[in-house]
Order: sequence, then C-alpha cells, then structure tokens
Amino acid sequence: MYRIGEEEVEELRKVILSGHLFRVGDGVVGHLHEVDQFEREWAQLIGTQYALCINGGGTAALICGLVGMGIGPGDEVIVPGYTWMASATCVLAVGAIPVIAEVDETLSLDPEDVRRKISPSTRAIIPVHMVGRPADLDAILQIAREHDLLVLEDCAQADGGSYRGKRLGSWGHAGAFSFNHFKIISCGEGGALNTNDRTLYERALVYHDGGAAFRPYAKELTIPVFLGFQMRATEVMGAILRVQLRRLDGILSDLRRIRQRFEQELSEVPGLRVAPNNDPEGDCGVVVALQFDSEAQARTFAQAPGVGGWLPIDSGKHVYSNWEPILQKRVMHHPDMNPFNHPRNQHLRTDYSPDMCPRTLDVLARTVFVSINPDWTDEQVSEHIAACRQAVKEAVAV
Ligand SMILES: Cc1ncc(COP(=O)(O)O)c(C=O)c1O
Repeated sequence: MYRIGEEEVEELRKVILSGHLFRVGDGVVGHLHEVDQFEREWAQLIGTQYALCINGGGTAALICGLVGMGIGPGDEVIVPGYTWMASATCVLAVGAIPVIAEVDETLSLDPEDVRRKISPSTRAIIPVHMVGRPADLDAILQIAREHDLLVLEDCAQADGGSYRGKRLGSWGHAGAFSFNHFKIISCGEGGALNTNDRTLYERALVYHDGGAAFRPYAKELTIPVFLGFQMRATEVMGAILRVQLRRLDGILSDLRRIRQRFEQELSEVPGLRVAPNNDPEGDCGVVVALQFDSEAQARTFAQAPGVGGWLPIDSGKHVYSNWEPILQKRVMHHPDMNPFNHPRNQHLRTDYSPDMCPRTLDVLARTVFVSINPDWTDEQVSEHIAACRQAVKEAVAV
C-alpha cells in the first residue's frame, strides 16, 4: 500500500555516496545521520519523547518493548486472538507467557475478556490496532490503571493512525510499529518503538545494540549496560523512512477519504452492516469492514465479482487457532530455553486450545474486509461500491 519512488532513490543515492551505511557516526565527517534524524521526526510525529528505529521489524520492536518493560519468566501478558502471531511470540521471546483473549465486534481486544483473563501474574496487555483499526484504548488503559498493568500498543498495521485525535503508539507505555512490505509506509523490513519512559527506552536501546557498551551514548545511560543483540537500523533504512514519513499523512488521508465514501454509500444498503469502530476518524482506512449474520453470507459477498473481499478468518497466522507452535508449546531451539518449561512459568495459564476464543472465531468468520488502495480513482471507487451493492443482494439471499 506504501508509495515509493524517485524521492527515495535520491536520498538513498546521497547515503550511498556518503560511504556511511552504519548508523553510528558521531563525529564522522560526511555521515548523514539519517537514522538519528528519522528517530527524532518519528518521535515528534507520534507524539512521544523517544523513538528507536529497529532492524528486525515490528517483531523486534515488540520484543524490545517488553524488554524495556522488564517482562520475563513468571509474567503473563494478555494478547488478542486476532493478530499476527508475533504479538504473542514476542512474549515468549522474553520468557513470559501469552494469555490469549477474545476480540469483539470491532475486531480488536475485548476489554471485558481482558478483565476476565487477568490473574495475579498478569503484568501487561498488548492491544493490537489490526488493519489500521484502533483498539478500545480508553477501556484498556482504564483496566491497566486499575490493575497496575503495562500497555504495549502493537501498531504494526496502523502506522500514523490515531485515537481521539492522538496518534496510536503514544497512548500506552510504549508502541511498536512495523515498516515491512505490507505496511502503510515501508523500507522493506524494519520497525520502531516509541515511548515516553526513559528507563524503558534505555533498556530497549541497550538490548537492540549488542555494542551498546562502546557507543558514545553509553555515558549518558542511567541504567547498567547488559548484553543485547544486533537489531540496529541502517542508514539505508533511515533515508528511505524519512521520505516515507513525509508521504504518510497523504496516504492516510486518501485511504480515509475512500473508506468514508464506501461507508457512507453502503450504510443505507439493506443487509449491509459496517463493523463498529472504536474511532472512525482515527482509523487508518486500510480496509472497509463489513459484517454479516453468517459465514455463508460473508463468503458469498466476498467472492462476488468485483468486490475483492476477504474474510479475516482465512488470514492464516493472524488467527490464534493457527498458531500451532504456541498451541503445541514448540518454542525456542532448546528445551531449557522454552518458556513453557521454565520453573517460574509452571503455575501460569498455558491451557491453549483451538476453540478457546469462540467469539473471536465467530466474528472473524462473519466479517468481510475490502482492502483499499489509496491510489484508486473516483471511478474505481464507484465501481467497487457498485459491486458491493450488487453482491449484498446475493449474500442476503443465502
Ligand atoms: C499486528 C502485527 N504485529 C507485529 C507484526 C510484526 O512485524 P514485522 O513483520 O515487521 O516483524 C506484524 C507484521 O505483519 C503485524 O501485522
């Protein structure tokens, strides 16, 4: 969905000709500091004090977020049953246990089920803004405050989206973003972590940079340096992302304009129901989400000529019932590093089953997404809307 072209080529050219592709370049003559600048610009855009650009995508950003929060063995983290598997695997990567909760009709984490799933071991919640649709942050943050829990927003599919006028990723204790090929802006692969918490930022910074101890910033750290890994962004990523960032609000306004047209023109069509949305204004507009009474109706609608619809229940590893490595507890390369075998996790809730979140499976099977292309012309939008009008007649007859 991202747009890319000559401007990125121009900025990349400068980076390549500078001869400096490594992000660390304090005092290096001719270094362009693209990643440093991107981090400042991304922090400002999202509205947080800190941003860390990370190689290794949204997955690495989520892991760094949990490391920053100090999550580990003995901790439970609540994740929705509808999300890319990484929202749950990141929890296992830090040695903790994911507890899978239902999504509601908005397709995001159901606050009531979050309440039901809280235990004395719960430390954090990961609300996911799936397909650019904001989670119910008011309710989730309220629960978090009541139970003293940390909130890591998974904004991988919602770069630049907002909730009540404030950007996603600035509401929780941290927000993780993805810039992979399928996202609203992209550098091929990559991610970012945003936060206002200095300690969380420093822990993520150290973890993502195995050489942290030797960097100039080490003398400014307020925490002891510990051993990290190598997830540093490159100047190539930084240069592309700085241009992508300038394109972001234009893409979002085109997506939102098209989605609003779909919703306005389809809202009066008998038999068609637009899925409830926690914030239609802040929704990125990646998809139009329509809901039906049955899976048969949804499938008939999605497959009708010209609709180009798809059911989230068919989206593979975005549905918890297809997370075989987690359901079967096959995690890590060595049994002693498998969090399910960790002594501190033995009393935690790991009783997963493919039917543990029936409401999630039901809503995902009754929902149809029509993916929006921000570059559609008005005529193309009209054709898609006309196809949807026609398709609903067939769907309701099922
Ligand atoms: C909701 C969600 N979380 C996390 C990720 C992981 O991001 P990445 O592929 O950049 O590691 C994705 C990627 O598709 C995602 O959709």
